Amino acid sequence: METVHKIADLQHIIAEAKKSGKKVGLVPTMGALHEGHLTLVRRCKEENDICVVSVFVNPTQFNNPDDLEKYPRTPEKDSELLESVGCDIVFMPSAEEVYPQQDTRVFDLGAIDKVMEGKMRPGHFNGVCQIVSKLFDYVKPHASYFGEKDFQQVAVIKEMVRILDLNLDIIQVPIVREPSGLAMSSRNMRLTEQEKQNAVAISKTLFSAKERMVEMTLSELRKWVVDTINNVESLEVEYFDIVDGDTMQEVGQWGDSEYIVGCITVYCGKVRLIDNIIFKTNNR
Ligand code: PAJ
Repeated sequence: METVHKIADLQHIIAEAKKSGKKVGLVPTMGALHEGHLTLVRRCKEENDICVVSVFVNPTQFNNPDDLEKYPRTPEKDSELLESVGCDIVFMPSAEEVYPQQDTRVFDLGAIDKVMEGKMRPGHFNGVCQIVSKLFDYVKPHASYFGEKDFQQVAVIKEMVRILDLNLDIIQVPIVREPSGLAMSSRNMRLTEQEKQNAVAISKTLFSAKERMVEMTLSELRKWVVDTINNVESLEVEYFDIVDGDTMQEVGQWGDSEYIVGCITVYCGKVRLIDNIIFKTNNR
């Protein structure tokens, strides 16, 4: 595995690989890697000749400076983990390397980023598009891998690829969970043992919601999920939106779309956790 810090070096290595016809896959991350990230890397490695992973805590997607400062940084451990799953190139640039001057680009994503995470974290998805578009430009991958854990992020990236008319496949990978059902996240480290146990109610409620969708209207089910989770100690739902899986717009009834996802954000003590459940899919 090669570790690269400079864009020019990255571009040089990739250009060489592409000359010999190699297929290149990219997994963008912010480090503090766990099994969720590694699943994306393994999939990328399986489907490509060269697997590039970027590890960069992107300042432009944090709307809260405190959050940016507190974001866990574990570069040595990340490198070990990446090596163990067969990553070929890890790109770990500095902020100055990526943003020699301020990135003033504004991405018009229409309605997709006006709801849920986009509404709660203004500017967040614009920052995600800034960094991901730069990474796509450096690597020009054949495919790039994103987790369904951040469901809206996948929809945003697909829309960005459409707007910029980029030629690559966006592969969405199912959520990787702890044995308890809790969606893996670098934020789980900040939970106490007790909070971690309480947080299991989030996925448990989402799983039983899927079973109950045949017997409840969409709005009844929505209310049931929110009430059930809010009844658990230390949990408080920020939002639970049941949306179309492509447009991210709320649906009123189960028959309104072939692709329906319930996206939830819950405060567990001070830690903000996100999760989702696919209620219906058209297998996209
Ligand atoms: P980060 O939070 O590090 O996540 C990197 C990728 O790992 C994302 O595509 C995310 O959805 C995926 N991921 C995280 N936890 C997962 C889990 N439990 N199961 C499946 N996939 C999981 O998302 C970002 O970084 C940044 O916004 C980024 C796209 C890198 C741009 O800076």
